[in-house]
Amino acid sequence: MTEPFDAVDVIRTKRDRAELSDAQVDWVLDAYTRGAVAEEQMSALAMAILLNGMTRAEVSRWTAAMIASGERMDFSGLSRPTADKHSTGGVGDKITLPLAPLVAVFGVAVPQLSGRGLGHTGGTLDKLESIPGWRASLSNAEMLAQLDDVGAVVCAAGAGLAPADKKLYALRDVTGTVESIPLIASSIMSKKIAEGTGALVLDVKVGSGAFMKELDQARELARTMVDLGTDAGVRTVALLTDMAVPLGRTAGNALEVRESVEVLDGGGPADVVDLTVALAVEMLDGAGRPTDPDEVRRALGDGRAMDAWRRMIAAQGGDPDAALPEAVHTEQVVAESDGVLDTLDAYAVGVAAWRLGAGRSRREDPVQAGAGVEIHVRPGEPVRAGQPLLTLHTDTPERFARAREILDGGWSVAPVGTTVPDRPIVLDRIG
Ligand code: URA
Repeated sequence: MTEPFDAVDVIRTKRDRAELSDAQVDWVLDAYTRGAVAEEQMSALAMAILLNGMTRAEVSRWTAAMIASGERMDFSGLSRPTADKHSTGGVGDKITLPLAPLVAVFGVAVPQLSGRGLGHTGGTLDKLESIPGWRASLSNAEMLAQLDDVGAVVCAAGAGLAPADKKLYALRDVTGTVESIPLIASSIMSKKIAEGTGALVLDVKVGSGAFMKELDQARELARTMVDLGTDAGVRTVALLTDMAVPLGRTAGNALEVRESVEVLDGGGPADVVDLTVALAVEMLDGAGRPTDPDEVRRALGDGRAMDAWRRMIAAQGGDPDAALPEAVHTEQVVAESDGVLDTLDAYAVGVAAWRLGAGRSRREDPVQAGAGVEIHVRPGEPVRAGQPLLTLHTDTPERFARAREILDGGWSVAPVGTTVPDRPIVLDRIG
């Protein structure tokens, strides 16, 4: 086959800060997916994009070309509108677990295609797989049937969605080209648009435990993704939310399922409840079913969301009543002085949970269902010398030392009487 472009010319265009044409973008992604553009050529192009950026037209075309590389799902035959949520990833971020059944209570279907964790942020599928019997892989027909019946499904994305992104993301991972706003935005949005949801709420995390450490960067990423979704006809809004401190009081797979069930039972930590309600309200709004936040909150306390959760888990073979796995060994991190917990660094807690066995370093590694970190004291709460701040959980006790190493300096205690300012969980909204 004679190729209409030369990969080196496309690379030079971006290297020299000119704008790629629609035809260049379409060709380079198609040719890369077929293997006609070499890995080293795409690697050079990704680096040129990271260094020189992309215009709105380029990102939009790049996203469309990644969508066109695979299949698109279609939920138009469902009896209910659809809404989905995507989080850019954080520590203790179990929000999908209570959120999907909660939104389903109000007649909106939630098709949540999720991933496994890599590095210090956990993956939703790893969390749910700690429930005995639960399976992540569903056929498209099973997914549609569950959406019609239960109204919520959390499952693995099939290989057919945006294959160009799959290949490119693996390449970016090993070439220092992940941290590019146009490449992150197009990667996330190509999968979400191909998934076919009618409305989308983006939870863009900001802080030490997130991809985006600074509010300005997070705002730019959110704006780029909201524009891409809106241009593709998906009603899209973004909330910028705090990830300087872990969400809730647990980081780790079964530990986070336990906490999610507490939220579905009307309890749980205030930040997890508040963020779940805020995201649910946005999803219902986007799906054309605006609902009073107090009514949404009530569904967490009166059994409706719990009922939807139990049906969602059972539909995928899980036993909602089964005991969750627990790690074999635990150790505590204790406060050395009286005072008020001043900081608890999300990144340190995330890496500790990962080192204890809750996460993986390579895609094929297994995870320990019971491993992770339990947080007994959150910033702003009083502590006494000798009081446990954290409990570390693992099946493999040789991991404790490395987890303690990263936690050293990851928290601090201020003198008794210090007022630690409350941290709002939602920092901004972009719509
Ligand atoms: N998640 C994705 O799916 N893609 C990125 O580029 C970054 C995070």
